[in-house]
Amino acid sequence: MFPERYRIEGGRRLEGTVAISGSKNAALYALSACLLTGEECVIRNVPAIGDIEFMVAILQRLGARVERCGPHEFRIAATKIATYEAPAELVVHLRASFLVMGPLLARFGQAACPPPGGDVIGLRPLDVHLAGFRALGARVYRRRDDFAAEAPQGLRGTGVFLDYPSVMGTLNVMLAACLAKGTTTIYNAAAEPEIADLAQMLNSMGARIHGAGNHTVIIEGVPELHGTEWTVIPDRIEAGTYIIATAITGGEAEVTNAEPSHLQSLLAKLQETGVQIETTGRTLVVRANGPLRAISVQALPYPGFATDLQAPMGALLTQAEGVSFIHERVYDNRLLYVGELRKLGAEVVTAGSTAVISGPTRLQGTMVRALDIRAGAALVLAGLAAEGCTEIADIFHLDRGYERLAEKLSQLGAVIERIA
Ligand code: EPU
Repeated sequence: MFPERYRIEGGRRLEGTVAISGSKNAALYALSACLLTGEECVIRNVPAIGDIEFMVAILQRLGARVERCGPHEFRIAATKIATYEAPAELVVHLRASFLVMGPLLARFGQAACPPPGGDVIGLRPLDVHLAGFRALGARVYRRRDDFAAEAPQGLRGTGVFLDYPSVMGTLNVMLAACLAKGTTTIYNAAAEPEIADLAQMLNSMGARIHGAGNHTVIIEGVPELHGTEWTVIPDRIEAGTYIIATAITGGEAEVTNAEPSHLQSLLAKLQETGVQIETTGRTLVVRANGPLRAISVQALPYPGFATDLQAPMGALLTQAEGVSFIHERVYDNRLLYVGELRKLGAEVVTAGSTAVISGPTRLQGTMVRALDIRAGAALVLAGLAAEGCTEIADIFHLDRGYERLAEKLSQLGAVIERIA
């Protein structure tokens, strides 16, 4: 049997309403935080996507009890832990699996995890995580197949300067520091909204974290954490993807259950292209009636333009009049999707981490391949704008990160189906 593909008949204007799911990454972080307590945690608004299944399987293999209470809700109790070593065959599937390290180390004084998998988008070192554990007093060492960390006497709070504001590096140190003795200050912390969300969840479990969502985070250690009920924030990248999908088809749509304050950089850049966006509460109304203007975009850590929306934006800019520039400054290899866009007729050249896009081009449907979650999303968007039929292979990447993508787009009037 052939792996499934998406088949898209392009040229339909998107219209209607789409509801945004819970944040993939915030939900993954919330699941890992459940390892910090033996009490039950209820996590809501968890998106039904592949990466969550992998994370749930990892928690179960570690010994946690995981109960699914509905499509978007889990009850998790890590009362007993069976092993402090994350299972290699699951860890290879997602980068977020490395987030079991901080909680296991903090609560049990030992943890091990193989180098995690995830998207191929550049060098993705772990030095920030490991240096953070060392600063908190752990012995951290590389074994043949994994990284191990030990702190038999417990972790000690201290000042931790991060060489780079790594998102999960910040989270691993924050998770570990919750149960350390004394106060930890993380300098040069990442400021993504998913970090503030996790800090609020941890505080609801009895942690004392201040400043998360800013570049200095202070964590006063506490002896133990208790259970909680937590609803994760909306997925800003999924919201951004549907906003751009509407724009690329010259459509008009309402994006609901979103958090517009997390989308400021995207909204500013889209307004520059001429797309009109109105926000009311948790709803954004997107109107893209006129021609689009070329712009320059730099992908940066939050609150800069999100690297996870860089490829979708690249697809949109093939339809803008003039020459657009994209400069990817977070990852060193996140322009590979450009090769696939070119198969559809896009006029794009790259030099290092910069893409130069000339538009507007009439895209023509053909066979392309999703190289990672966001590269795949860019091709779906390009397929919506292309003439004729686009077939996208390797859509397991999209299944990892987008809940019911074909259904949600069909609801907006797109013609998209899964084919074997
Ligand atoms: N970096 C280091 N040292 C480290 C860790 C990272 O130099 O120890 C560098 C990386 O090489 C990279 C940059 O830091 O160039 C950014 O990496 P970061 O650690 O911030 O990313 P992450 O925590 O591994 C999360 C998301 C990514 C998202 C980035 C940036 C998850 C599971 N992943 O990754 O999401 O792109 O933050 O916002 O939360 C996606 O959802 O498609 C995705 C890739």
